[in-house]
Amino acid sequence: MSGLRRIARAGFETVDDWFSAAFGPAWNPMYNLGALGWFFYWITIVSGVYLFIFFDTGITQAYESLEYITNVQWYAAGVMRSLHRYASDALIIVMMLHLVREYVMDRLRGARWFSWVTGVPLLWLVFACGISGYWLVWDKLAQYIAIASTEWLDALGIFGEPIARNFLNPEALSGRFFTLMVFIHIAVPLIMLLVMWIHIQRQTNARSNPPKGLAVGTLGMLLVLSFVEPAVSQAPADLGKVPAVVNLDWFYLPAYPLLDRFSGGTLWAVFGGATLLLFLLPWLPPGRPEAAAIVNLNNCNGCGRCAADCPYTAITMEPRSDGASFSQEAVVKDELCVSCGICTGSCPTATPFRRTTELIPGIDLPGLVIRELREKTLAAAEGLSGDARVVVFGCGYGPGLKTLEESGVATLELPCIGMLPPSFLDFVISKKYADGVLLAGCAEGDCHFRLGIEWTEQRLAGARDPYLRKRVPRERIRECWAGVSGSRRLRKELAAFRADLKDLGPLDRSRPLSGTHKVSAEVESNA
Ligand code: HEM
Ligand code: SF4
Ligand code: SF4
Repeated sequence: MSGLRRIARAGFETVDDWFSAAFGPAWNPMYNLGALGWFFYWITIVSGVYLFIFFDTGITQAYESLEYITNVQWYAAGVMRSLHRYASDALIIVMMLHLVREYVMDRLRGARWFSWVTGVPLLWLVFACGISGYWLVWDKLAQYIAIASTEWLDALGIFGEPIARNFLNPEALSGRFFTLMVFIHIAVPLIMLLVMWIHIQRQTNARSNPPKGLAVGTLGMLLVLSFVEPAVSQAPADLGKVPAVVNLDWFYLPAYPLLDRFSGGTLWAVFGGATLLLFLLPWLPPGRPEAAAIVNLNNCNGCGRCAADCPYTAITMEPRSDGASFSQEAVVKDELCVSCGICTGSCPTATPFRRTTELIPGIDLPGLVIRELREKTLAAAEGLSGDARVVVFGCGYGPGLKTLEESGVATLELPCIGMLPPSFLDFVISKKYADGVLLAGCAEGDCHFRLGIEWTEQRLAGARDPYLRKRVPRERIRECWAGVSGSRRLRKELAAFRADLKDLGPLDRSRPLSGTHKVSAEVESNA
């Protein structure tokens, strides 16, 4: 990761920590930027439909109808107008933060290119919605936007006659042109909805609704703002006069002052080039994709857990192709797989207790197969000595594990913590290879592979298959979700955990953990 990106990431994580401290990880707006985008979209749609009841689409009547909305029916339609304005401003803020964040957190490469590339047209669509909306007010700002935008469009040279001519004088302005703007302001949001839907198609359980508390809080803030600072029009448009001063909206119109300084052609080249660059970012610089997960049919019983847990819809359950007695089998679509390994963590056959056959689970990640993870775990545990021995399993996107290395501590890195089957914790503790297991990873609510932490917590809590058996003492397991810049927090957590383990006393290595033998035998026979 480049130095600049690292700094930006640390910056994001600092802000994230403030929000998490204030609202808790679940309500952290920085973890819900895409969901907030959807929320603000729906607010603009609902308020827009209400406004349309009172809005008159004639050139002269448009301004008057908005004056009625703002000044006469201020308590209902006026509030809707303000909500419409402020929710669309908020949409720009969350969309831009979402874009920068996905880039800084490096969530656009490999199979994730799809969400990125389908996000780019949304930028143009959102701006087109906002600009056409300002146009409809037909005040001085609208007049300025109409002239500047049509001159800019004329620079493309694709219209037979310059469309800016429509705004030379009041007589030239055609009502049909105004109707076209109304049509655009309705059609573009509908196209946007389609693109937003496509944008999240490759994600399982995409978060397109913010948590209730966050939704109520943000809506409340928008409502307060709407009453305190209602959205109003500027003076009515007058094509006989050139507007001398207009108050620009800096959310939607920051590019307009550039039109006074540079030619339309130059700006098309700049914005076109920037859009092309954005499209190409997932492949810049080019990298070698990591190998996709592979299914080993001999060990797949078709339970479907991997398909349910895959965060990127890369696994489908298909009719059995090998004549085995199970009805289904897991099939991985390589082009959708981000190599997180979460599917392996969900597979009931990925258990280190298995001794009778070679450890090949139903689904495996070629970059770190389960057999290798078992060997590494055993090798790491073997080197442990002294009191309060801890095995730390961490993900490659959480705090660095190297700094933890000290006597009595072994560390193992996985692509995602969700790759770790709970049976590995059972294995390490019940076989007494260590006195405790610490799980570390990305910040809570911000898993690099979306669902790794959530599934891990549910598996440990017994709420999701495969779950950690009840008999594994929970006081010997600790979780620390600290993010890449949380090394200090992780070190502190490890020290506190080891102190607690010392108080608990060592596991009696001469006696089996109650019921563990039975459990192992059960797992072996299942595998
Ligand atoms: C109206 C604007 C947008 C909305 C409403 C929106 C919404 C969303 C939502 C709901 C998700 C799924 C989040 C999750 O469940 O983890 C998402 C993911 C994503 N978005 Fe957007 N998005 C918008 C614009 C953009 C733009 C402009 C870009 C970048 C060009 C972008 C890039 C991404 C990427 C890369 C992901 C995938 C992250 C991952 O793989 O975990 N989005 N977006
Ligand atoms: S979780 Fe394992 S056994 Fe179940 S369907 Fe997937 S690969 Fe097959
Ligand atoms: S590694 Fe497994 S869970 Fe992760 S994207 Fe690929 S198939 Fe899905």
